[in-house]
Amino acid sequence: MKPCCLKLLAVLAGLLFYGNMIAEEAPSVEKGRQLFNSTEFAGAVSGKSCSSCHPGGSGLQFAWQNPYLAAQVNNCILGPLRGKPLDEESSGMQSMLLYIRSLKK
Ligand code: HEC
Repeated sequence: MKPCCLKLLAVLAGLLFYGNMIAEEAPSVEKGRQLFNSTEFAGAVSGKSCSSCHPGGSGLQFAWQNPYLAAQVNNCILGPLRGKPLDEESSGMQSMLLYIRSLKK
């Protein structure tokens, strides 16, 4: 293959990768809300969602102050949801944190 074609391919691959990141990975409050209401969040197998115990986020309006918020979310994933803890930097956790912080009153 000619070097110019390789360059073009590299650019295209880069665009695809970047496009996917925007489409699937960008954390958002809306995505966090969906995960909060999902019984499959973080590989949960208990049939519960976060909303089962915190309906619509109620009771969590002061959680944004919690310096260990991600760890607390992981506790609730591990315990009640019987899922797998998420990396703090993961898109799912970041969306969840954005959503919980949006509940601030
Ligand atoms: C079986 C019930 C149950 C489920 C399901 C559950 N939690 Fe909890 N959660 C609790 C209890 C009990 C506490 C501790 C008491 C409190 O602070 O309300 C708590 C505390 C928290 C706190 C700390 C509140 C604060 O003010 O710092 C956060 C944040 C939280 N949960 C998020 C979640 C998220 C996110 C999920 C879903 C992954 C979830 N919880 C699922 C019962 C549950």
